[in-house]
Amino acid sequence: MQTLSLIKADIGSVAGHWRPTTEVVAAVTDTLEDQGGFLDDTFVFTVGDDIDVLMSHREGENAEPVHELAWDAFLAGTDIAQEQGLYGAGQDLLEDSFAGNVKGLGPGVCELHFEERQAEPILVLGADKTEPGAFNQPFYTTYADARYTSGLLLKDTIHKGFTFEVMDLEHTDPGERTIHLDVPEDIWRLAALLMEPHRFGIKKIRSRATGSQAAAISTQKLRHVAGEYVGKDDPVAIVRTQSNFPSPGEVLQPYATPPMVAGAMRGSHHAPLYPITSDGGEIPSYFDGPALVKAVGMIVNDGQFSEPVYPFDGSFWDAVRSDVSREFREFRERQGVFGPGTLEASELEYGGWTDILDDLEERWEERSSPEIPAE
Ligand code: F6R
Ligand code: MG
Ligand code: MG
Repeated sequence: MQTLSLIKADIGSVAGHWRPTTEVVAAVTDTLEDQGGFLDDTFVFTVGDDIDVLMSHREGENAEPVHELAWDAFLAGTDIAQEQGLYGAGQDLLEDSFAGNVKGLGPGVCELHFEERQAEPILVLGADKTEPGAFNQPFYTTYADARYTSGLLLKDTIHKGFTFEVMDLEHTDPGERTIHLDVPEDIWRLAALLMEPHRFGIKKIRSRATGSQAAAISTQKLRHVAGEYVGKDDPVAIVRTQSNFPSPGEVLQPYATPPMVAGAMRGSHHAPLYPITSDGGEIPSYFDGPALVKAVGMIVNDGQFSEPVYPFDGSFWDAVRSDVSREFREFRERQGVFGPGTLEASELEYGGWTDILDDLEERWEERSSPEIPAE
């Protein structure tokens, strides 16, 4: 059985929260190369200020050596980030030492475990300046909405539907909790959960025809680990495609009219999810947004990754980018901080607004009776 582990962290960046330096990424990659002899293959890419490490191996999910290697690679990168004085150096490594698994230590992680097919096409997605729930709408559209995914109507195995494992991201005591919902029977119950992306996030999707894992998404909330805001929980996802799974085109279609998601400036606003190219030239430089999503297509062949293809490099997506840029600018100009411009109060990632309300508390004037004019 093959396992793919995708582990990500923001360990420091240039200017603001834009992107890591070449030397920091090289330190991560070198550590994986030097110490990753037990892995089948590795692939490192960046999305905004995040470094995403994809590893293929036979160790299964939650394997300590795999998680520890990613942790050590991020530590090596952090040393360089500190030397270079980068902003937020080591910011997602919230604990001092590794403790068996990167979950709960800061980095985001998702893993898929499966019997490799003759040809195993995958898509890997990474997002920046947003939260795990940003993937709710796109993944719902692909795996549950026959208006968009024709495979749900045209291909018998896909037509049998999918099981979504959804995590309650706010449930931390005594621990995490998840629920399994079968599509199509549970489709409206699934929609009822996923419409609340700050609280519910998709963790895994399985094929009901074969029982095999189709997709995995990271669901870590940094503020639960740190106890305070230390950066948004930029999510990653691995998706198996073609044959009994939706095709890459069905997975990517939702990003052509992307949802508004939580994130951007101070992790406290709404912004569209903006599909970016491979070249690293696109940085979240307008109001620390828009929220970015990068996709990488590959074949896994006996554990080895093929050369990567970046689907959003296609010229079709240039038109999407210019539409989304215009829409986001208009949205920002129209809303400013008001209403849906910012997130609801409970989701604001900085404490300053609450402090203002606390300061104002004694200036409120109690009114003994409503001001209704006498008849
Ligand atoms: C979003 C993000 C940025 C920062 C913003 C202010 O995830 O990281 O939007 O919140 O640039 O950063 P500080 O408060 O560190 O100056
Ligand atoms: Mg950051
Ligand atoms: Mg980030």
